[in-house]
Amino acid sequence: MPDSDSTPTNEWDGSDYDATCGFVHEEATDLVDVLDPQPGERVLDLGCGTGHLTDAIRERGATAVGIDSAESMIAEAREQHPECKFVHADARAHEPEQAFDAVFSNAALHWIPDDDQDAVLDTVADALEPGGRFVAECGGTGNVTAITTAVETALAERGYDTAHPWYFPSIGAYASRLEAHGFEVRMAELFDRPTMLEHGDDGLREWLDTFGDHFFGPLSAAERDAVLTDVETELRDELFRDGSWVADYRRLRFVAVKS
Ligand code: BEZ
Repeated sequence: MPDSDSTPTNEWDGSDYDATCGFVHEEATDLVDVLDPQPGERVLDLGCGTGHLTDAIRERGATAVGIDSAESMIAEAREQHPECKFVHADARAHEPEQAFDAVFSNAALHWIPDDDQDAVLDTVADALEPGGRFVAECGGTGNVTAITTAVETALAERGYDTAHPWYFPSIGAYASRLEAHGFEVRMAELFDRPTMLEHGDDGLREWLDTFGDHFFGPLSAAERDAVLTDVETELRDELFRDGSWVADYRRLRFVAVKS
């Protein structure tokens, strides 16, 4: 999602994103069922990416506005879903022009560092009408631990001390945070969701190419390739099944209502 100094940097290419990462919205269509948008409701989609779920919300009759801090995502979202409104904005500092009945977010919160999560929750609370709901899913504690451990180990063997940059909270940590911002947590669930990656044997490499800029910044192309080869060797028995890589995703999903 965002790309400021305090945020994990990732070079998003909106025009290419769906080819590698279509699963990000495909695996979360049931989150729209949890939101259950009603005709006439106003919904803010925070970290909307290429806008597929924003549009799914609109198709249920709601007015949907998507925000994302990556300009190329917003450009792609506008091209693909002209019936929705998309705004280039950082969730940590966004001041919407109108109040919303619900805020929705899929696979975006984990890109925002721990220190900035309270700013995001301020934005969400300010954006909602009293009684409005915040329905979201992000990586939860333990998300992609096999992958991050293998990458960090391969980097450490070459002298790089690089920890993964994402915020993957537990239920307790995030529920406390929501309550501190005036929300009542109605549902919270942490669940494993093994996720098949596209592109067969190259799937893990491509996933790391898309999501893992943070790991590889200082490496030469040859070093990067060697690290990726080590990671594939280490994880093949655990995560390669029937011709595809299956990432060890674990999700945190919640519904919270503004008191
Ligand atoms: C996720 O969507 O769960 C995710 C995103 C970036 C890194 C790891 C996991």
